[in-house]
Amino acid sequence: MLDKMSPNQTAARVLDGKWVRDQILAELKPRVQKLTAAHRPPGLAVILVGNDPGSEIYVRLKIKTCGELGIYSEKITPPETITTGDLLGIIEGLNQRPEIDGILVQTPLPPQVDKDRVLRTMSPDKDVDGFHPLNVGALVENIPGPRACTPVGIMEMLRRYDIPVAGRKAVVVGRSDIVGKPMALLLLHANATVTICHSHTSNLAEECRRADILVAAIGRAGLITREHIQPGATIIDVGMNRKPDGKVVGDVNPDDARALAGAYTPVPGGVGPLTIAMLMANTVEIAERHLCSA
Ligand code: GUN
Repeated sequence: MLDKMSPNQTAARVLDGKWVRDQILAELKPRVQKLTAAHRPPGLAVILVGNDPGSEIYVRLKIKTCGELGIYSEKITPPETITTGDLLGIIEGLNQRPEIDGILVQTPLPPQVDKDRVLRTMSPDKDVDGFHPLNVGALVENIPGPRACTPVGIMEMLRRYDIPVAGRKAVVVGRSDIVGKPMALLLLHANATVTICHSHTSNLAEECRRADILVAAIGRAGLITREHIQPGATIIDVGMNRKPDGKVVGDVNPDDARALAGAYTPVPGGVGPLTIAMLMANTVEIAERHLCSA
C-alpha cells in the first residue's frame, strides 16, 4: 500500500463533468432548434413536492438548463402534504398534454405518497427518468427506452474519456433503483464483469480492490478510502453528502483517489453535471419520437 505518491506515479486524471456536460448540451442545441423550427420546442414538466432544500437546488438547475437550451419547461410545486391521489391527478393531466414530452417527479417524496403508484401512473412514453417499470424492463432487456440519467451520464463520461469498459471488472457500491441497479446493468450491457456491493457485503474493501472501474453510490461521506482502491483504477463518485457546514462531499476520500486512482470524478463537478445533461438528452429524444413519428 502506498503511503505517499511514488516518484514515478502521476496524480490521477480528473474526469471533468462540466466538460462532458458542455459537449452533450452543445450537441443537443441544434436538435432542439430543428424541432422548434419544424414543430414546437420539446417540453418538460418537473414536479417538486414540498420544500426539500437539496431538491429545490436540483430542480432550479434543471429548469435553468431547459431555458438555456430552448426547451419549454414547467415547474409544478404541490405542498408537502399532498395525497397520492392528488399527485396522480397532476400526473394524469400532464400525460394528456401533447406539448409536454417529459415528466419528472423529483425524489425524495414525502412518506404519505405511494411512490410506486406515482411511477406506474406516469406515461412510460413521457418518463424522462427511466423509472417506470416498463422502461426498467427495457433496460434489463437492453432494448431502447429512456435510461436513468445519472448512470447513462456516467457511461457517456467513460466513453468520452476513452475509458474502456468491455472486459473490465466493474464494481458498483450501492443498489438503489436510481443509480446502483441501472448502473450495473449499463456496465453489464457494455460487457464489463460487474459486481454489486451493498450494506450486507462481507468484505467491501476486498471486493472494491478488484475493480478497474469503481462506482460509489452509497450516500456515505468518504466511505471509500485507499484500501478500497486498486492502483490505476477509474473511480466514479456519485455521492453528494452535505456536511453540517453546508459543504458537499462525495462517497470517496478525494485525497486517496487522487493519490491512487488512474482517473476519478471530483465532487462537486464530476457526476453532478452529467445527470442534468442526460435529463436534457432524454427530453429531446422523447420529443423527437413524439414529433418525428407523428
Ligand atoms: N432525486 C435524485 N436524483 C434524481 C433523479 O435523477 N431523478 C429524480 N426524479 N429525482 C432524483
